[in-house]
Amino acid sequence: MKLQNEINKRRTFGIISHPDAGKTTLTEKLLLFGGAIQEAGAVKSNKAKKGATSDFMEIERQRGISVATSVLAFEYKDIKINILDTPGHKDFAEDTFRTLTAVDSVIVVIDVAKGVEEQTEKLVEVCRMRNIPIIVFINKLDREGKDAFDLLDEIEQKLHLKVTPLSYPIGMGYDFKGIYNIWEQNINLFTGDPRKDIEETIEVTDINNPELDDLIGSDAANTLRDELELVQGVYPDFDQEAYKAAKLQPVFFGSALNNFGVRELLDCFIDIAPTPLPKESETRIVSPEEDNFTGFVFKIHANMDPKHRDRLAFVKIVSGIFKRNVPYLHVRQNKKLRFSSPNAFFAEKKEIVENSFPGDIVGLHDTGNFKIGDTLTEGELLNYKGIPSFSPEHFRYINNADPMKSKQLEKGIDQLMDEGVAQLFRLNLNNRKIIGTVGALQYEVIQYRLEHEYGAKCTYENINVHKACWVEPEDEKNEEFADFKRVKSKFLATDKRGQLVFLADSPFSLQMTQQKYPSIKFHFTSEF
Ligand code: G4P
Repeated sequence: MKLQNEINKRRTFGIISHPDAGKTTLTEKLLLFGGAIQEAGAVKSNKAKKGATSDFMEIERQRGISVATSVLAFEYKDIKINILDTPGHKDFAEDTFRTLTAVDSVIVVIDVAKGVEEQTEKLVEVCRMRNIPIIVFINKLDREGKDAFDLLDEIEQKLHLKVTPLSYPIGMGYDFKGIYNIWEQNINLFTGDPRKDIEETIEVTDINNPELDDLIGSDAANTLRDELELVQGVYPDFDQEAYKAAKLQPVFFGSALNNFGVRELLDCFIDIAPTPLPKESETRIVSPEEDNFTGFVFKIHANMDPKHRDRLAFVKIVSGIFKRNVPYLHVRQNKKLRFSSPNAFFAEKKEIVENSFPGDIVGLHDTGNFKIGDTLTEGELLNYKGIPSFSPEHFRYINNADPMKSKQLEKGIDQLMDEGVAQLFRLNLNNRKIIGTVGALQYEVIQYRLEHEYGAKCTYENINVHKACWVEPEDEKNEEFADFKRVKSKFLATDKRGQLVFLADSPFSLQMTQQKYPSIKFHFTSEF
């Protein structure tokens, strides 16, 4: 009973957006509602400031911030809300993809003037692949932007979503008068004062009531009536089951900076967003109500202080209750581990907790036992489906620049790869190490961290690789596969899980190879 109550109380989600759309600002306002922070400005943006991307101190500073804001938890109207932070910078997209394996829903923030941007498209695609329920928040209505209908169209086209507005703006920019809340049937008038009392909404159950004209003027009232009629005609009624099945996405409008439209979003969110969901493991689907604890590691964060090499592994609780000091099975290593100081996260602090429930995230101190994707259980040999690796965009050989420190280099590379900073491939021909990353920034991070945390030095050497493709032969023993391995031996490598990878040097050679070996499948992610 207690477990069920705790599950019903929890909503664990991520906010995703293209940088600058307003993710940090929205997060901050949500925390203000929860009383988790006292003033604006308390949540620091962890985006890489423009022009400072090659500054190592900047990278370190951001790593510090990103551990502080990795999980933000607060209570609102008796609901425990866990926000998982997702870096907006594209070089850290892998981090965001992995975090999306630990959320039960997401809120997508879109800038009303810029519309759907590149990062939003990529991230929403991952959400769609995983059937994650999505709420859209269109931000910055206090500025001139695109027409609401055009924007809804753009969202449907570019993001392949099926939307239905649950709030609707009255004017925008200079003429922004407020928001009609379709969900609650009331109006919130925009004053531009972020401290405006949130109780000031005015109930308008019948938009044909002449009182509406008094409130916002006849012109605006008539436009609103017309537009709402159009909304009703064009978009489907909201249906919670369809939303939870990721088949329908409700849309809200507002201005995060002015704390406007955010209360509407949050109140609807706690009503409709899913409680912690069952999760697929390699053997069965595990439901949160099960008595036995299970969880998985979706993020590892190294200690900022090089004198303390311990790391923090972030575990999402999938089922049962995680208890302090109880031995749990680390399935991959087949050994029992107990944790004396599991951390729970709050808006401005982390604290040791006795019990954590499904949907919660605990931070476990780790001296090198964990890899991303590891599963913890009470004894059951169960593995949560792996967190996929995507083909990196950049590839370089990594060389040891200090022969006296080769052990340190090995260890450093190993641990950084466990953390998921980048991917390591070994060329089958000569065992040389190749580091693949999503963004060029990671090479600097790796070099810097190898030196400062492990005392090792590395250099890089260019290699011409276009994409890494995970190879799946129809039959490992057939002639075609043998021929492929012989002819392409120079381009074959092994990833950290021992899977065979083809490093195509150009789109053309990839295409030719696919044509020549039709029985072999080439995948751009490691999970297939
Ligand atoms: P991000 O985390 O998605 O990258 O975006 P962030 O919240 O940092 O917001 C990006 C910029 O947009 C910030 O301005 C922020 O103040 C502004 N912003 C956010 N919401 C709104 C809104 O509703 N209306 C308007 N007009 N602006 C908004 P900045 O100048 O880049 O940073 P700052 O100096 O204000 O922190």
